[in-house]
Amino acid sequence: MARLTAVFFCLMLILSCGTIFSSALTTFSLEDKLHELEVRLEAKIEAKNAQLEEKVAQLEAQLELNNELRQELALKVIQLEAKNVQLEVKIQDQERILTSLLEAAELPVSTDSKLFPVKKEISIRSTGKSGIPRTCRELRAADPSLSSGMHWIDPDGQGVGDNPIYVYCDMTSGSTSLLHDSESSLNVGHCAEAGCYSRPINYNSSIGQIKALMELSTECHQSIKYDCNFSPFKLNGVAYSWWNDREGNAQHFWSGSNTDGVHTCQCGIDGNCVDSAVKCNCDTISPIQLVDDGVITDKNVLPVTRLNFGRTQLETSSGVHTLGRLVCTGSVTLTGLPSSCADLQMIGHTLNGFYSVVGSAKMESVYCDFTKLPDDAGFQKWIGYADVKSAPVHFYVQRNSSFYPQNTPIPFELVVMNEGNAMNLTSGKFTAPRPGTYYFSFAGVARLSSSSSSVSLSSYLYLNGKLIGSSNVDETNTPVVQYSVLTLQSTLNLKKDDQVWVTISYPSGTSSFLSDSIYHYTHFTGFMLEEEIGASL
Ligand SMILES: *[C@@H]1O[C@H](CO)[C@@H](O)[C@H](O)[C@H]1NC(C)=O
Ligand SMILES: *[C@@H]1O[C@H](CO)[C@@H](O)[C@H](O)[C@H]1NC(C)=O
Ligand SMILES: *[C@@H]1O[C@H](CO)[C@@H](O)[C@H](O)[C@H]1NC(C)=O
Repeated sequence: MARLTAVFFCLMLILSCGTIFSSALTTFSLEDKLHELEVRLEAKIEAKNAQLEEKVAQLEAQLELNNELRQELALKVIQLEAKNVQLEVKIQDQERILTSLLEAAELPVSTDSKLFPVKKEISIRSTGKSGIPRTCRELRAADPSLSSGMHWIDPDGQGVGDNPIYVYCDMTSGSTSLLHDSESSLNVGHCAEAGCYSRPINYNSSIGQIKALMELSTECHQSIKYDCNFSPFKLNGVAYSWWNDREGNAQHFWSGSNTDGVHTCQCGIDGNCVDSAVKCNCDTISPIQLVDDGVITDKNVLPVTRLNFGRTQLETSSGVHTLGRLVCTGSVTLTGLPSSCADLQMIGHTLNGFYSVVGSAKMESVYCDFTKLPDDAGFQKWIGYADVKSAPVHFYVQRNSSFYPQNTPIPFELVVMNEGNAMNLTSGKFTAPRPGTYYFSFAGVARLSSSSSSVSLSSYLYLNGKLIGSSNVDETNTPVVQYSVLTLQSTLNLKKDDQVWVTISYPSGTSSFLSDSIYHYTHFTGFMLEEEIGASL
């Protein structure tokens, strides 16, 4: 057993000794390794630390950025909320306007609307063009898809004059109807005196706008019907009923266009009144139900501003009037070129200023004040002639040698200028290319021979072969040759193709002539002062 133990011990010893031995061998390199590892680990940790620090810094930066963005977003949200509130207010405003417009469209309309079909719908739409049209016709032209109904127009032009007006537009005919407060059939009741019933007619428009609309339209009319029973307009020379025109003047015609004060109705014009002795059915003296139905077409006096009736005092008498709207159609077109501010306004000018217009003979300048009506003082101010020439005409020609023939147009040899080629040097004749006012000047030197008697030289200005002016130099008993200057000036109104030239002559038996040389003593010049522009437009 002891042996065994010893062996075992020894075995252990050997084993352990061996281990110890080998440990002793490697102890030194392990320490080194450990150290090396430590160093490496430290380096690694440091690197990792640095990385982490960097990352932290990045994250911090990111965080800061995020914060800023969040604040910005919050601000934006607040702004948007404010905008939203504003928009809501706007929408409410628009809704209010829409409602009031729709309410306005529900207007009292005449039951008798044969003149135009009434559609109670309203369309609020832009014309697609900027600016408000002047008539329904213009509105229809701007947007043919619009339906008939109430629309805004501005007859006297946008931005000037009176406010736009709200009218009924018939988009089929393009007509404009002005509504008023008395369109339904109204009973005049019973009263005796002339005009004892008097009703003002109120149009929802200024008289300026009404006039402007009528001026733009080729035709305007207003229907008027009077259902009567023993209630004459006129009886025994007394006018019991009349209407007032736009100037407030009394009118006695109930149809057509008749401004000379004559009392008549449609049957009077047609010659088919119930009683052929009177001009209106209602003027018939008998208690029967009659009617006068007419259409007033006089653009110069429309619209009807007041209706006056009388002599309906009897129980059996009755009178009911029905006044239609003022309806205007068509558009006055300007034929030719504008010759006044009214023409300019008609073609759409609305800005005050200086304009050129065609005058009777010349172009003229006018100042137009479109804030005024055409018949107002100061609407057009005449400034003067505008110097417009459709083509320039001027010449200056000379001679280079003496000229002897008498009564022959003097030809010219040198041309300094001949703008418009109106001067023919060969023939010596000027031919007016256009009608207008022209100026001419001729100058030359007369050579008079020595003579014991009288010697002279004349120059003559001819227009179409007719002598219109002359100049003359003469000498008596001249011992030596004399030189004298001849001149001629003239301002002439010429028609197209009129011809002007100069000739010379001297008494027979003498031998004077027009002296010239390389010094060019002979001059003929001329030019157009003003053109009669009408002929070339
Ligand atoms: C009258 O005209 C005004 C503006 O000019 C408009 O606001 C109103 O709606 C019109 N009323 C009628 C009954 O046409
Ligand atoms: C004018 O006449 C002279 C003499 O005949 C000639 O020599 C000269 O060239 C002429 N001048 C002109 C501009 O024609
Ligand atoms: C100028 O007059 C001459 C002589 O009359 C004529 O032969 C010639 O055709 C005229 N020239 C022009 C451009 O008319």
